[in-house]
Amino acid sequence: MNIAAVDYDGLIPNNVGLGQDVRVKRALEKWHPGYINWWKDMGPEGFQESLVYLRTAVSVDPKGWAKFDYVRMPEYRWGVLLAPQHDGRRIPFGTHKGEDAWQEVPGEYRAMLRRLVVIQGDTEPASVEQQRHLGKTAPSLYDMRNLFQVNVEEGRHLWAMVYLLQKYFGTDGREEAEALLERRSGDPDTPRMLGAFNEKTPDWLSFFMFTYFTDRDGKMQLEALAQSGFDPLSRTCRFMLTEEAHHMFVGETGVTRVIQRTCEAMKQAGIEDPYDIARVRKLGVIDLPTIQKKANLHFSLTLDLFGNEISTNAANAFHAGLKGRFREDRLKDDHQLESGTYPVLRLIDGQIKNEDAPALSALNMRLRDDYVVDCNVGVGRWNKVIADLGIPFEIKLPHVAFHRHIGEFSRTNVDVDGNILSPAEWTERRTAYLPSESDKDFIESLMQPQFEPAKFASWIAPPKVGIDNKPGDFEYVKIADA
Ligand SMILES: [Fe+2]
Ligand SMILES: [Fe+2]
Repeated sequence: MNIAAVDYDGLIPNNVGLGQDVRVKRALEKWHPGYINWWKDMGPEGFQESLVYLRTAVSVDPKGWAKFDYVRMPEYRWGVLLAPQHDGRRIPFGTHKGEDAWQEVPGEYRAMLRRLVVIQGDTEPASVEQQRHLGKTAPSLYDMRNLFQVNVEEGRHLWAMVYLLQKYFGTDGREEAEALLERRSGDPDTPRMLGAFNEKTPDWLSFFMFTYFTDRDGKMQLEALAQSGFDPLSRTCRFMLTEEAHHMFVGETGVTRVIQRTCEAMKQAGIEDPYDIARVRKLGVIDLPTIQKKANLHFSLTLDLFGNEISTNAANAFHAGLKGRFREDRLKDDHQLESGTYPVLRLIDGQIKNEDAPALSALNMRLRDDYVVDCNVGVGRWNKVIADLGIPFEIKLPHVAFHRHIGEFSRTNVDVDGNILSPAEWTERRTAYLPSESDKDFIESLMQPQFEPAKFASWIAPPKVGIDNKPGDFEYVKIADA
């Protein structure tokens, strides 16, 4: 079988030989109607009949895997795509390091592996649910198309995880696959599994911040799972990462365009002080301090996704060879970590200090550190736009202890610079760091739809290039074809 090519003949596009795997094919076909119902109920609201210029994966060859065309979203060809198998792949880390990679679930780790798959799987539909209202206020057809592209691919990522559950985990895998369609983001009774995926994405700046910060957590998790000794998981995640890159592109360029528009408008109006918020807002753009607050919020919520700094679960998953470190294959050490240490930021006697912890226990912390480095790259590019337009302002990521709900700092009030605050100080200063009600109202007032080709809402600059090299006036979404 040619793994790079995808079989589009059946109901479920795939490159895993589903045609010859009757049991799994039937299981997925049974799951399919429930998925479509979920998509219609919880997917993008109001545009299900519109024609959207979307990319669909037709191959897993990194050089040419996507084709672009107009599609109605419910007719999108969600499929099961695994990156090619590497002959002779070995388990790259943990106690089984050097043994042949598993092609079947290792019995002793079954429950742990299933949990990893379910947690990853749960985030995928959650973000679609969080973003379902945004189409109505899209600042352009270009942005609307990007939103829907991210949404359909998160749907495909759900398929990717459900395939693993259905193929490798029998009855309980089937039950988990059903449950993934039953939980709902933000639902008090049946919420999604992780906190940040139960928050609202109320406006487009939130969407861009979410795709910048939270999809980047997705990238880190997928990179760690792509190292897995369980080969089907590794291959699934490797291909998901190809798609994930676009989501972070949407976030990074989205925030860049918001910043650019703000700075350009300020220059034009002769406003030099970025803190002259009332005057900046009168220009119909989002002031830089408010953009900073949004970054503070989304960064801190996303840090919580990395879990406790010291974690036995993370240690066990590594030890077992199921979940590695960020780009494990490029690290130079024994890949077993039985004896090493890693510095962990902790709260000791009321002070935030580094303390060496066993490297195995500190894996969440390490992944989080790698994440922060990755986040800062794009922040640097945002600041370059601000500097190039001559505005004296810099976006900064807040201290990792700021506004945390999980882990070492969840019971402490810490400001963006890492100073510990009393509860009273925190209450007083909170809206200096995080969006206030009036900030939210202001942003909401800007969220006016702009559905004419080539036009953009007042608060965002056009992109430098179109998707699939399309010209500026390209109609990315044909809404009227509803
Ligand atoms: Fe995803
Ligand atoms: Fe994503």
